[in-house]
Order: sequence, then structure tokens, then C-alpha cells
Amino acid sequence: MHDLNGKGAIVTGAASGIGLGISRVLAKAGVNVALVDIQEAALDAARQEIAALGVRAIAVQLDVSDREAVKAAAVHIDRELGKVHLVFNNAGVELGGGSVADVEDREWDWIIGVNVYGVINGIRHFLPLVRKHGEGGHIVNTASVAGFWVNPDFRLGPYATTKYAVVALTEALHQDLAGSNIGVSILAPAAVNTRIHASGSNRPARFGGAYQRYGAAGLQAALAAGLAPEVVGERVLRAMRDKELYIFTHAAPKTWFSARFERILAAFGKV
Ligand SMILES: NC(=O)c1ccc[n+]([C@@H]2O[C@H](COP(=O)([O-])OP(=O)(O)OC[C@H]3O[C@@H](n4cnc5c(N)ncnc54)[C@H](O)[C@@H]3O)[C@@H](O)[C@H]2O)c1
Repeated sequence: MHDLNGKGAIVTGAASGIGLGISRVLAKAGVNVALVDIQEAALDAARQEIAALGVRAIAVQLDVSDREAVKAAAVHIDRELGKVHLVFNNAGVELGGGSVADVEDREWDWIIGVNVYGVINGIRHFLPLVRKHGEGGHIVNTASVAGFWVNPDFRLGPYATTKYAVVALTEALHQDLAGSNIGVSILAPAAVNTRIHASGSNRPARFGGAYQRYGAAGLQAALAAGLAPEVVGERVLRAMRDKELYIFTHAAPKTWFSARFERILAAFGKV
């Protein structure tokens, strides 16, 4: 995917944060965008902003954990947007700090529903739109550095559990599509300046409805000091062009991951 002008993309979680940043960068490159999100008003504002950049932009309001809704959206996007070359399974939520033993059943259902089933639903129903025209494309699933390492400071166990799953899913998809004209990437940012700490305000009724809990004290401050979402969007576009499987955005995680892998490798000393 080198010349993106006139291509089509689906971006989930496009009403704010990284998804909106990716959508802005895509639109500036001439890509038509289907913006998918659960938040209606913010999604409409995002659609207007992206359309004003001179591309076709459609808004699809849904819960990515709802597989029937995602299936219906694929039909709608196919009809309304035209060919889809790029899919960004990016919508995600975060629960806030706490011990994994204290997480309630419906909280597990919600975070696994959005962060894992949301990506599975995108692979099941959006990827066929890319395959259909044969022109090739790229699929980017948003994981996190928490998909490779459990941060001991923020107690993000449930979040990391889902992001490890996204890494495994995407590594498997990369193997499945090897040799095809569809690239696959894992986006694994560290801190980005978004409202992910306030995810509870978007929790659907079937998972208990909206709530406010901003999680571990330092998390919000770390996010506020993080990268701008557009910088991540630019990084993603470069990585897609270079067919990078792992897309990191910060250098520091290399040290964190090394320590984890050293412990894992050292454990083989006991075999
Ligand atoms: N911000 C960071 O530091 C960071 C770091 C690593 C990974 N990530 C990941 O980046 C992705 C985007 O998050 P963000 O930081 O931009 O946060 P954000 O909260 O600004 O954006 C997430 C978007 O997803 C939407 N969303 C939430 N639940 C949904 C659902 N059920 N169906 C459809 N849309 C839904 C929200 O409305 C929101 O617009 C997430 O997968 C997140 O885990 C973020």
C-alpha cells in the first residue's frame, strides 16, 4: 500500500484518540474513511471533520463487541464507501487499576468483548471486504505495550490480558496471510494523550452501563504526557508502507520487554 490516494479504510474507535488521529492522517493522504464508534455525537463531529479534508467519510455507530452489528456494518460500508483496502481494529477500553481477582464477571465480559471480540469481529467481517476486490490492502490491530508486558505500576491486568490476546491473534493472522497482498500489523503504543482512562463513560448498558472510575492514579498523568494521536497515525502509515509487523511508538518498552524475556529464558535453566 504505497499510493493511498482514493483507497478506502475502516477505522474503529474513530471518534476520539488514536482512531481519530489515524483517520486524520488517512484523510490527508486521500483515503475515504468509514468511521466506526459507539459514541454518537463525537462520531458525527469526527465524520464532519474528516469529510472537510476532502474525502468521503461515513459514520457507523455501533458496539464492536456486538457481532451482528459488525456484520451488518460490513454490508453497509461495502455499499456506501466502496472498496475497502485498510482495516484498523482499534476500538478499545481500559478498566482501571485493581487486582484481577476482584474484577467482576460483567467487567471481564465488557473488556474481553470490546478489546478481543471487537478485533475478532473486525477480522471476521471487515477483512472479507479487503479480500473481495483482490487489489491488496493492510489490516492493523491495535494492541498496546501491555500486550507484551504487564506494567507493575498501574494494575492493568484485565487490559493486559486482552492485549496479549490481540498480539496472538494478529501474529496468527500475519502467518495466515503471508505471501498474500494483504499486510498485517500490530500497533503497540506506550502512552498516547487520549481519554482511554475514562473508558467507563462508554460502557454499554448490557455490560452494566456508564460509570466513572479513572483507575491507577499515575495513569491519567502518564497519558497526558504521552504522544499526540496524529503522531501515532503518521507512524502507522509509515509502518504499513514498510510492512512492519510490530509497530512500536516509544523506545522505553524495549528495556521493559528485555527484562521479561530474560526472566522467561532464565526459567529454562531449570529444565
Ligand atoms: N492511549 C494510550 O496510551 C494507548 C496505549 C496503548 C494502546 N492503546 C489502545 O489504543 C486504542 C484506542 O484507544 P485511545 O487511547 O485512542 O482511547 P480513546 O478512549 O480516546 O478512544 C477509544 C475509542 O473507542 C471507542 N469505543 C469504546 N468502546 C467501544 C465499543 N464497544 N464499540 C465501538 N467503539 C468503542 C470510544 O468511544 C473511543 O472513541 C485502544 O485499543 C487502546 O487500548 C492506547
